[in-house]
Amino acid sequence: MANITIVGPGAIGGTVGAWLAQDPRHRITLAARTRLDRLEVQTPQGVITAQPLVLTEPAQATPAEWVLIATKAYDVVGTSRWLDCLCQPDTLVAVLQNGVEHIERFAPYLPSERIVPVMVDCPAERLRPGYIRQRGPDRMVVTAGRSGEAFINLFARTPIDVSASADFRTEIWKKLCINSAGALSAILLKGAVISRHEAIAQLMRGVVRECLAVGRAEGARLDDSVVENVVSGYQAAPPDSVNSMHADRIAGRPMEIEARNGVIIRLGRKHGIPTPLNALCVDLLEAAQG
Ligand SMILES: NC(=O)c1ccc[n+]([C@@H]2O[C@H](COP(=O)([O-])OP(=O)(O)OC[C@H]3O[C@@H](n4cnc5c(N)ncnc54)[C@H](OP(=O)(O)O)[C@@H]3O)[C@@H](O)[C@H]2O)c1
Repeated sequence: MANITIVGPGAIGGTVGAWLAQDPRHRITLAARTRLDRLEVQTPQGVITAQPLVLTEPAQATPAEWVLIATKAYDVVGTSRWLDCLCQPDTLVAVLQNGVEHIERFAPYLPSERIVPVMVDCPAERLRPGYIRQRGPDRMVVTAGRSGEAFINLFARTPIDVSASADFRTEIWKKLCINSAGALSAILLKGAVISRHEAIAQLMRGVVRECLAVGRAEGARLDDSVVENVVSGYQAAPPDSVNSMHADRIAGRPMEIEARNGVIIRLGRKHGIPTPLNALCVDLLEAAQG
């Protein structure tokens, strides 16, 4: 049995928490900012429910074997307040977030070797606290090695597809290529259907080419075909699908602008790679956020 605490039971944390709670080997606790009574997730396999212990104050928390962080990338400081109470020397902390800086984000609070970065590919949205719609299959990728294998084992009795990669850097940069282009939907407040406009598809290609160039400079092995794959992926998606940054803008929540586009500009500068289209996206999103 594993004693697992999930910090941030939103779309991803709630989905993962509800699936893990179906496995009687695990004891699941939710570390929440907003109180919730239960989890109910509409999954592709049907509705699943769970009634884990819910904490809203870090002082209530006790040490866990695993901490799964599923807050937004910009909520690092609030998230870190849970870690002192949740972590003992052998606790492993998985970071289920977008972007390419999972370890850098939490290294000020934890020894790096206890951080397990996770690439999450799962379309999910929060309907209200504890109520989530998982729109498609959940796929996660971790780094190859002992802690990656231990993370995979947690999910052995769930339909979540978790695998290990010997080239995790490439995995997260491929995901960032997809996320970077999603900025256009958040700017225009239109779902994936917007990619079917040729002018927008061209802009998306430009944003992704910049991301790809910076990713390569950072050591990711990204083929030129990534650009077209990203755009055709958006074009083939259900027209109304809403990426999480677009969902945040609609809900009036802060957006992960820095983790998804700002990082491309920042790392591009380090390598002398111009990133004018990502800079434009960041300016427009920051202006929209106010
Ligand atoms: N949703 C997707 O489809 C998707 C897919 C792949 C990857 N991702 C990535 O996964 C990560 C999580 O995204 P999400 O969509 O699940 O976000 P979300 O639905 O906004 O959930 C974030 C959760 O964190 C909670 N939270 C914030 N600060 C907290 C704190 N100090 N203590 C405890 N809980 C706290 C929020 O509480 P409140 O209820 O108070 O806001 C919310 O429940 C992001 O990096 C995102 O980019 C998302």
